[in-house]
Amino acid sequence: MSYNLLKGKRGIIFGALDANSIAWKTAERVHEEGGTFVLTNAPVAMRMGQINELAEKTGSQIIPADATSIEDLENLVSQAVEILGGKLDFVLHSIGMSINVRKGNHYTDQNYAWTQKGTDVSAMSFHKVMQTLYKQDAMNEWGSIVALTYMAAQRVFPDYNDMADNKAYLESIARSFGYFFGRDKNVRVNTISQSPTPTTAGSGVKGFDGFIAYAEKMSPLGNATALDCANYTVSLFSDLTKRVTLQNLYNDGGFSNMGVSDAVMATFIE
Ligand SMILES: NC(=O)c1ccc[n+]([C@@H]2O[C@H](COP(=O)([O-])OP(=O)(O)OC[C@H]3O[C@@H](n4cnc5c(N)ncnc54)[C@H](O)[C@@H]3O)[C@@H](O)[C@H]2O)c1
Repeated sequence: MSYNLLKGKRGIIFGALDANSIAWKTAERVHEEGGTFVLTNAPVAMRMGQINELAEKTGSQIIPADATSIEDLENLVSQAVEILGGKLDFVLHSIGMSINVRKGNHYTDQNYAWTQKGTDVSAMSFHKVMQTLYKQDAMNEWGSIVALTYMAAQRVFPDYNDMADNKAYLESIARSFGYFFGRDKNVRVNTISQSPTPTTAGSGVKGFDGFIAYAEKMSPLGNATALDCANYTVSLFSDLTKRVTLQNLYNDGGFSNMGVSDAVMATFIE
């Protein structure tokens, strides 16, 4: 169902890789709600070609950008403002990658060059995106910036590896930059802490299937889907959440406040 919540709003959506991507679902929902946007992803992800399908469906243009490159980001932001015909109202940062996870290096045996790369892509890129938007004065007043995160920033999930540290850093950047963006430009900055979701990035985590099933059993409302996350993001881009900022917001069916559920206890009781 569409409520026209984003009519007349313009933005940039990072991170749509394929139809499972949270950013893909978000782009579809933002389009349904009347928003217009530029899609972007790393040049290497573009080669897989699927993003063209999303661009066509949502009437969007694609501008490749490696989110770790200031030059790419400067070009992206200035072009997006030109293409969309004015300053931006929303930005979604939906980017995550750990080479240690991908190559199976344990948390206690990291390759630090990979760790640094993962931190740059998964966390520092959020600072780079915001600094570029801030310096170009590219956000409209009462605009909204959202990044996606996971609860391993607060609690231990052993197989989440160095991504846990990257997410803690990402959430801190949201608060620190959010202060200046709020004070100087009336722009809000939040992170959404999402349930485990079957996507390319998610499925890279060891034991992901078991983990998703466990979270489902622990959460009174069950796991939040990619579509649930897209809907929540739409609400944060809308004018209905104008003074929500510097927050880490859980979209997880209640998981983060659970100790144990009946369903999980049942597996220990004979
Ligand atoms: N899937 C989950 O279980 C889950 C849970 C909580 C949070 N998240 C977060 O949601 C976000 C989106 O991930 P997803 O699950 O939709 O997976 P995904 O694999 O579909 O998306 C990750 C995106 O990051 C992009 N990316 C990687 N390196 C990049 C770079 N250098 N520059 C620009 N883009 C780059 C990829 O191309 C891809 O589009 C990530 O921040 C992820 O950590 C995912």
